[in-house]
Amino acid sequence: MKCKITNKSLNPFMSFGKMPIANGFIKKEDFPKEFFFDMEVGFNEDISLFQLNDHPKPESMFNENYPFFTSSSEHMKIHFKEYSKYIKKFLNGKSKIIEIGSNDGTFLKNLVNDDHKILGFEPSKNVAKIALKNNIPTINEFFNKKSANNIGEYVGKTDLICASNVICHVPNLNELIETVDMLLKDNGTFVFEEPYLGSMFEKVSYDQIYDEHIYMFSASSVRKIFRKFNFELIDVLPQSTHGGSMRYVIKREKNSISSNVKKVIDFEISKKLDRIESCLDFKSNCENSRNKLLEKINLFKRQGKSICGYAATSKSTTILNYCKISDQIDYICDTTIEKIGKFSPGMHIPIKDMNHFYNNQTECVYLFAWNHKNEIFNKEKDFKGTWFSHVEL
Ligand code: TYD
Repeated sequence: MKCKITNKSLNPFMSFGKMPIANGFIKKEDFPKEFFFDMEVGFNEDISLFQLNDHPKPESMFNENYPFFTSSSEHMKIHFKEYSKYIKKFLNGKSKIIEIGSNDGTFLKNLVNDDHKILGFEPSKNVAKIALKNNIPTINEFFNKKSANNIGEYVGKTDLICASNVICHVPNLNELIETVDMLLKDNGTFVFEEPYLGSMFEKVSYDQIYDEHIYMFSASSVRKIFRKFNFELIDVLPQSTHGGSMRYVIKREKNSISSNVKKVIDFEISKKLDRIESCLDFKSNCENSRNKLLEKINLFKRQGKSICGYAATSKSTTILNYCKISDQIDYICDTTIEKIGKFSPGMHIPIKDMNHFYNNQTECVYLFAWNHKNEIFNKEKDFKGTWFSHVEL
């Protein structure tokens, strides 16, 4: 794939092998027509950007069957409430606010009773429907120049554009940034948060890499990318969500840059996050992590223990397919109705409801939603077996 920002082809430094759609939970009758792609990752040194070399079309991922609902985590609901308080410093009286990838409206819901004019863009029909039902103004379309042009009253007049865990999903970053530029007021602000490259490298949480996550950003890459469009990175704020994320604040003004930016960029330079060398270390760390995980699972099996997975996350698709784990895990329990009764993408492990988990006394539990550890451990205090994961719990 060519990186649209620099129009340069990437040399992949690592392959995770054949991958299905990460959120493509599948019925048995559909196994023969399951879609796979080669999941390779590369690093664009011009803009310090870690990215997938190729990815499926967005329409094959974000459609009427998208099974991810932000509101499935209580912790995320609290996070978005806090986020909505944080952004108030960029607002002025009656402001116009847009959220890109507004999902079921969990974030915008916090602003609905204020005087502001709010609008979400959400391409997945089923989740957009929930937001609309909750009276969150939502356009069921991808965020791009065409859909933005249809909302004339926002063009050049938007105070704030927000996004969470969405910008890394957008293949055409050029168009995305040009659309942000078209909509924002002169002194408008763009705030977005994404899983952070530094956290992924530190935790070896390679399960952050899957079809939807085309990019893994760092402050170094975000600053280089946005400068190409005359925007400046004016603040960076680390977040605990998604196993380690970063909030980026972008403006056209260049005179209000927080000292956080220099601190984080200096840290990234010291860790070589702006260079391909760190990727090569990450590659060998992923291979070691896979070996250790398989040893652990094989040991449980030799001891005659039963294993299940907890939370059928998109992330789990990368782990299971890269490590080729299937029969060793009896089932994966999850709270999402859309996933229950189906099978995990690629490895076809059955997805069961939570009652199945409570009734089965499985001995070892692979926590796939390790990023929600506190919330889940709190809920499952009575579970007496062994929790494990590929990252430290
Ligand atoms: P998340 O880590 O946000 O997912 P992803 O990797 O897909 O971004 O976890 C969301 C999934 O985890 C979703 O399928 C619901 C499930 N889940 C549970 O089953 N129980 C829980 O307590 C939590 C927090 C999530």
